[in-house]
Amino acid sequence: MGPTEDFPETRKHVVLTVNGEGVEADVSHRTTLAEFLREELDLTGTKVGCNRGECGSCTVIIDGMAVYSCTMLAVEAHGKEVLTIEGLADQGKLHPLQEAFVEHDALQCGYCTPGMILSVKALLDKNPHPTELDVRTAIDGNLCRCGSIPNIIEAALDASRKMAQGKGAE
Ligand code: FES
Ligand code: FES
Repeated sequence: MGPTEDFPETRKHVVLTVNGEGVEADVSHRTTLAEFLREELDLTGTKVGCNRGECGSCTVIIDGMAVYSCTMLAVEAHGKEVLTIEGLADQGKLHPLQEAFVEHDALQCGYCTPGMILSVKALLDKNPHPTELDVRTAIDGNLCRCGSIPNIIEAALDASRKMAQGKGAE
């Protein structure tokens, strides 16, 4: 018997909130949250790099915490509030963090960017006046292979200052 016969697929009805919208679906117990977001909800802003909890490109915010969506099952998101990168802009206006990433040239290939921005957002939601060390710690689990980390840190600190001054704060 192979693993598929040993562990037959089951499905579960889940109800959650994604970017402020209620979502209901029947999902396989094998589907990760990253797969669910990308393949079933078409929210492809969430990137999958390593698919095993090492790179942080799949980071989303769940109930206020930055989480790797590749290491969480979709069924575990039942009853939770999920924020993906698509939920940040407000009626077409970029979030101050997104603006700061553009202004500070904080991306090259962009693959790490959604996860980086969401890790920083989770920090700023709890600590609106972070130090550089706070930012470095918040993005500790997010890898950037393009060498954009210095610009990402500048962008995060600049956005935090602007948001604290009420310039487009969310
Ligand atoms: S894709 Fe999830 S941590 Fe790398
Ligand atoms: S901009 Fe390419 S991985 Fe960070």
